Amino acid sequence: MTDAAIPVLTIVGPSGSGMGTISRAVAARLGWHYLDSGALYRAVGVAAGWADLDLGDAGALVRCAFDTTIAFRDDPGGEPRVLVNGHDATDELRTETAGAAASAIAAIPEVRAALKERQRAFRQPPGLVADGRDMGTVIFPDAATKVILTASAEERAERRYKQLRDKGVSVTLDGLLREILARDARDANREVAPLRPAADAVRIDTTGQDTAAVVERVLALVPGRAA
Ligand code: C5P
Repeated sequence: MTDAAIPVLTIVGPSGSGMGTISRAVAARLGWHYLDSGALYRAVGVAAGWADLDLGDAGALVRCAFDTTIAFRDDPGGEPRVLVNGHDATDELRTETAGAAASAIAAIPEVRAALKERQRAFRQPPGLVADGRDMGTVIFPDAATKVILTASAEERAERRYKQLRDKGVSVTLDGLLREILARDARDANREVAPLRPAADAVRIDTTGQDTAAVVERVLALVPGRAA
């Protein structure tokens, strides 16, 4: 099967838009593979931290992006585990520190280039659900279905607050809202792969909607699945 024949559904959304949860659920319903592209950037950020690299040293970070091994393992009991250089870094990947490091290194064009082919390799039969900023624009511009999820910043901060609180992480709602707004601005304004939806993406506002309802709306957009 050529790559072009393998269907891809791309999902984009700012942090806290429910992108990861929705994408995983949609992939499970379709029986397709799932690429969490943010996890790759987070993994490089975490590996850079382990190696004590300076987040201002682009050359060292690019080498780190090439050298870091990243593997996903299904966990029947929960979300997939992510192994970074052979170590289970799933929990560390989800921290705000890893998110901030990912966002900083994602602004380096050579790091993005280093991760490009790795991302495209996830396109395997019978199909792929890929989430992340540039999935529908740069990595899989020929994807048949492209979705952009939106939600108010306040609702995104609240969802993230509940998630972290459930994990026993202590954060304030105000602090999270400020971080979310700052990261949105940095991701939208950077020169390389800014957070701009593909022109052919369908926008779904998830404010006030539960996961199940959004999953159905996304599934209805996939060719051959429309009601
Ligand atoms: O989606 P997630 O919050 O895990 O991504 C972490 C960071 O990695 C984002 O804030 C963004 O800066 C970067 N990223 C990116 N391109 C992607 C996925 C993530 O630049 N495709």
